[in-house]
Formats: sequence, C-alpha cells, structure tokens
Amino acid sequence: MKKKLIVGATAVALTAFALTGCSARNSSPAASGSAASIPKGASIGVALPAKTSQNWVLAGQDFTDAITKAGYKADVQYAPASNTVPGQQQQVSAMVTKGDKVIVIGAADGSQLGSQVAAAKKAGITVIAWDRLITNTPNVDYYVAFNNYHVGELQGQALLDGLKAKGKAPYNVELFAGSPDDSNAKIFFDGAMSVLQPKIDDGTLKVVSGQTTFDKVDTQGWLPQNAQARATNLLTKYYSKTSLDGVLSPNDTLARGILTAVKAAGKPNPVITGQDSETASIPLIMNGTQYSTIYKDTNEEAQAAVDLVKDLAAGKKPNTVNDPKQNNNGQKVVPAIELTPVLVTKANAVQAYANNPTLEALAKKG
Ligand code: BGC
Repeated sequence: MKKKLIVGATAVALTAFALTGCSARNSSPAASGSAASIPKGASIGVALPAKTSQNWVLAGQDFTDAITKAGYKADVQYAPASNTVPGQQQQVSAMVTKGDKVIVIGAADGSQLGSQVAAAKKAGITVIAWDRLITNTPNVDYYVAFNNYHVGELQGQALLDGLKAKGKAPYNVELFAGSPDDSNAKIFFDGAMSVLQPKIDDGTLKVVSGQTTFDKVDTQGWLPQNAQARATNLLTKYYSKTSLDGVLSPNDTLARGILTAVKAAGKPNPVITGQDSETASIPLIMNGTQYSTIYKDTNEEAQAAVDLVKDLAAGKKPNTVNDPKQNNNGQKVVPAIELTPVLVTKANAVQAYANNPTLEALAKKG
C-alpha cells in the first residue's frame, strides 16, 4: 500500500514536471532534439496525409529538397488515399523502427497518432506536427503551421467585403467547413465565425438553411464531391425562390465543388471564399468567379520545419510562440513556429504571388 502511494506520488510529480516543462515558452532544445541526436546525414521522416489539396502535393517535393539541401536524408511518405489513418500509423511506426532522428507529421487524423508518437518519443526521436496539430498527447515537441485561426478570420472578412461590394444587405449565405478529422477545420471555422456571427446576429447575414454549427456544415474527408452534394441539396431545398449571395468555403477544392453545384442549378455566381491558392482556382479569382483565396506558401512552411531541425541539431533555442487558440492539443500547448497567411483577391494577386513564378504568371494572365 505504502509503495503504491509513493509510486503514485512520483507519477504525479513527474506528470507535473512534464507539463510545466512542455508548456514553457521556448522549451529547451535539450528536452527534444540535441546536437548529438540529429547528426548530419541523419534520416528525417516526413509523414504526409493523402493529397486532398494541392498544398499536400507540393509539400512532398518541398520537403525532399529542403531536407537534402540541409544535409540530411529525406524519408517522405504519403498516407494512402484509402485506408489513410492505419496507413499513416504504419508509416510513422516504420520511421521509428528505421531510426529516423526526427519525424515531421502532417496528420491524416491528428487524434489517432497517440501510440505512434509515444513510441517515437521513447526512442528519443523529435516529433514535429506540421500544418495540422496532433491532439491529446504529450509526445509532440513542436508545431509548425500557418496561423489557422487567422486564416478563418481572413475568410470571414473577405466574405463580408465581397458581399458589400456586390450590393446592399441583408445577404443570403451558406457556410461550409472542412473535415472533422482534421484539427485545422474547426479552427478555420471558428476564426471565420468570430467575424460572421455578429453579422448573423444583427441580421446583415441570413443563413437561409439555419445550418450554422460546425457539425452541420463540415465536409467529410475534405472531398469536393461531398461539398458539391450538400450545396446541391441546399439549393434545391432553400433557394428555389431566393438568391444565394455568398458562401463561406474553407478551401479552393471545396469552392470549385460548390461552384459546380451552383452552375448546375442555373443560379448566379455567389461571392465565395477559398484557401490554398490552387493553380486551378487562380483563373477563377482573376475572372471574378471566386472572390478570394488564401496564400500559404507550402515551400515556406516546409522550410520552417527544416530550419527548426537545423536549430535543434545545432543546439540553438528555436524561436517559438504559444498560441492557445490553435496550439493547445488537449494535453499541452505545443511550442509553435507560426507563419502568417495572406488573403488574396483579384486586386492584390499579382503582388501577393511575387515570390512564386507559377502563381504570379497565372495572376498576370488574368
Ligand atoms: C490545410 C489546408 C487544406 C486542407 C485540405 C488543411 O489541414 O491546412 O490548407 O486545404 O487541409 O487538404
């Protein structure tokens, strides 16, 4: 009995220590990766989700290039399109077994990696959540991402601005969110609703379907066909006699799906938001079909993760922030490298894409 109590007390003390240690600003590099633990030439694992949008397609090559250039070996893997969660779990486990020194994870489902990252930590591997947070585990060392809440705020504001430019309030709108298994999706939505809810409350915006909560408006798997099907249903049910003026869409892929439904219903084009600056959507921005997108430079985001690895390997303190709005994973506030997203409309596209020849050329083409 006595022994049990002592063990219990030690466990509590250890947990308290781990929690304070982990949630401190600028957590010490010795706690995660140290110079000796990430030698030059070491293998760095990068586990990416399925290619549900163009940013993920670009990420693989960006990581391979940045890791190789930094003098490490890149071990980049995508979760299979079907069977994504078990597929990614297996890939992360294999990275641990292979002896990768750092594992960067863009989670297929951030709530399903607890035992894999626990095994990684046990093996002394530095775990970095990339773009999407890994939730409900103390075993994530860092989070590298754009400010997702701000992405949502920008989307909400863009919808209002686009509607205002088009005509007088009140405006009929519908809301769409991303996939519930992606921890970013709710954060994007909450950011957008922080701007839109007051305008729903004061009658500027009317959500004709009445569907305003995340669980009513989410889009399983970030699949455009799911958003398209929901848009078709909404148009049939609620918009036979009235106009749909605006749509909050969480990314470009879904915006194109929703626009397909609008077109098929023979309805005029609504003001619609997006995200990711996909090459298929920039012409739509330039010809006025889609009002806005967000630019999150994938190369910048991959490079930020690799720079973090370089700092850790050199024993340098990374310059992290604590942002409880998006970095609290339920067990700790994960020290984060947070990048700034940029809102893009037709008005600033050429300038916004000045560092990206492909996107800049598309914007210039109009
Ligand atoms: C990314 C978005 C992307 C979405 C769908 C999110 O986690 O942050 O940029 O549109 O996944 O792939």
